[in-house]
This record gives sequence, C-alpha cells and structure tokens, in this order.
Amino acid sequence: MTDHQVTRERVLQALGTVMDPELHRDLVSLNMIHDLVVQDGTVAFTIMLTTPACPLKGRIEREARAAVSAIAGVKQVNVRMDSNVPVDRRISGKLSIPVRNTIAISSGKGGVGKSTVAVNLAVALAQTGACVGLLDADILGPNLPMMMGVDTLPPHRDDKIVPATVMGVELMSMGFLVPAGEPLVWRGPMLHSAIRQLLTDVAWGELDYLVIDLPPGTGDAQLSLAQSVPLTGCVIVTQPQNVALADARKGLAMFEKLGVPILGVVENMSGEFFGEGGGRALAEEAGVPFLGQVPLDPKVRIDGDQGTPTVVASPASPAAQAFSTIANLVAARISVQAAGP
Ligand SMILES: Nc1ncnc2c1ncn2[C@@H]1O[C@H](COP(=O)(O)OP(=O)(O)OP(=O)(O)O)[C@@H](O)[C@H]1O
Ligand SMILES: [Mg+2]
Repeated sequence: MTDHQVTRERVLQALGTVMDPELHRDLVSLNMIHDLVVQDGTVAFTIMLTTPACPLKGRIEREARAAVSAIAGVKQVNVRMDSNVPVDRRISGKLSIPVRNTIAISSGKGGVGKSTVAVNLAVALAQTGACVGLLDADILGPNLPMMMGVDTLPPHRDDKIVPATVMGVELMSMGFLVPAGEPLVWRGPMLHSAIRQLLTDVAWGELDYLVIDLPPGTGDAQLSLAQSVPLTGCVIVTQPQNVALADARKGLAMFEKLGVPILGVVENMSGEFFGEGGGRALAEEAGVPFLGQVPLDPKVRIDGDQGTPTVVASPASPAAQAFSTIANLVAARISVQAAGP
C-alpha cells in the first residue's frame, strides 16, 4: 500500500515548480506562499502577490491549484489571493509621507491626455483594491478636481491638509486652494515649493501608488519638478501622430537623463483621426515597454467633463478596458522593478 500522507514539504515542492510569469522565479523562493495549512488531504494557503493589480493573477492561481491538486492524496485545495505592494527603496528615505511608489504621468506636449490618463489610471488601480493617491502637479492649470467631480476638501487634521477621497482615490490639487477662475502667476521657485507642499504637507493615507499628473512640456518647471519629487517611474503619454511623437521623445529623454525609470509609453487618442502605431514605434525605438493604446472616443471627453472617469462611467467601453489594462501593466512593471535585476 502506498502512503498518501500529504506533507507541507511535498506541497512546497509542488508550489516551487510554479513560476511567476513576470518575475521569472517560483512562488516559494519569491516568498509568496503564506498561511500554509495541510490537514487530511485538504491544503490551504495564501498567495501573496506584489500588487492587487497583477494582470496574471488568474493564471498564477490556476497553476498553483493544479500543481497542488496533482499531489497524490490531495482531496481539496483552498487558495486565497492577497497582495502586499513593496516599498520602492530608492524613494522611501526621500519622502516624509507614507507612499510606497510614485508614478509620474508626463508628455512633452500639452493636451495629449495626460490628466485623462492620470485619473483613469488612478481609479483603475483603486478598483483592483490598491490604496491610491492622485496629485495634481499642474499648479497653474489644475484640472483634476473637475475631472474627478469634487471641488472641496474635508476639514484640516492636526494642521495638515486632508486630501479629498473620491472613487477610492485620495486627491490633492491646487484647484482646491485657489478660487476657480483666479489666475496664478507664480514662477520657478514658488511653483517648486507649492508642489513640495502639496506632496509633504498633506495627510496622505498609506498609499501603494501615488499617481502624479505633471504639467506639459520639458522646460525648467518640469525639470525641477521631476528632480524635486522622488519618482519610482514615469509613464509617457503621446498622441499617435509625428508632431506629438517628437515632443514625447524629448520628454522621454529628459527622464532618462534624470535617471527616472520609464515604466512605458501610452498612445492616447488612437484611431482614424490621428492615426495609430506611433506610440508603439516610440517605445520600441527607446527600448521601453509599450503599455497600450486608448482610442479617441468622445465619451472619454464627456466623462472627464462630467467628473466621472471613463473606467467608472463606461467600464465596458474599449477605452475603459484599455485604461484598466494599462493600469495593470504599470503595476506589474513596478513589481518587476522592485524585484531587482
Ligand atoms: N482618448 C480620448 N478620446 C477623446 N477625448 C480625449 C481622450 N483623451 C483625452 N481626451 C480629451 O482631450 C482633452 C485634453 O485631455 P487632457 O486634459 O487629459 O490632456 P492633458 O495632456 O492633461 O492637457 P494639458 O497639457 O492641458 O494638461 C480633454 O478635453 C480630454 O477630455
Ligand atoms: Mg492636464
């Protein structure tokens, strides 16, 4: 008679054959298996991912379940999926706020859809269960309160500004502090310190990801901003056509020069009007990931104007699906980066 006693060692051995497809290591050596309980042929464990937005969550769960089910004597497998987003060690000492990762959304050119990408990315990450903040670093033209459908902040707490919480995202913007329609004529150093204050004098919660919407351009303001805020990485937004690409290329080069990792390129407003494919070509040329195309769709603009990002207003639309996929890919890139070379 063969002994079908299931042991922890046997289970860990089986799980040691299941690879994380992005980190290219197995679940056991990545320390992803928690709370393992083996009792009379029933095996229970938690798979601790490095982001709740993991695009391959379903596949990892299936493969782990299959590997354990194949062990002789196993009658039942209970898998729980959980996540714990790692702290970006490169930035953690430089920030006085409890933020694990910072993601700048940038473009060389204005009006390409940075703010639209920033709000949809932030909300899509929050929809996966991540703790997300959104900082409007466009001090002179703050659009995010309008795009997120909120115009006031909650009361201060212990002398600190408390961000607005909307659609699961903590939001801070100069737009909350300056009356609408009043022009701000600040320059260099004042802008610089305003951004630092929006970042550090605000009572942010414990954030997995802080998405930062940068002002357009590659001038001094952008440069000093990119230098003053420690960044986990940046996402370059471009339109598909050549003129936009030339500016995006400049933006990309600026971040590379500063040593900020490029998480990838997003092509926005793809379709018949502006064409398509330029974003992918730019990413390939620069040797950085291409994160996806968001179609030109009037509904995206209407949703933004009405203060409900497309991922909430029309979650089944191709644009919303593209934003969600991009959010997952950005989170995955950050996980890969955190795991080291
Ligand atoms: N995929 C899209 N389809 C249709 N309209 C879009 C799309 N993306 C953005 N828009 C619209 O294009 C306009 C510019 O977008 P947005 O404000 O996000 O750009 P931006 O790069 O942040 O601009 P700025 O440089 O002024 O900060 C907005 O009216 C927005 O609603
Ligand atoms: Mg903008």
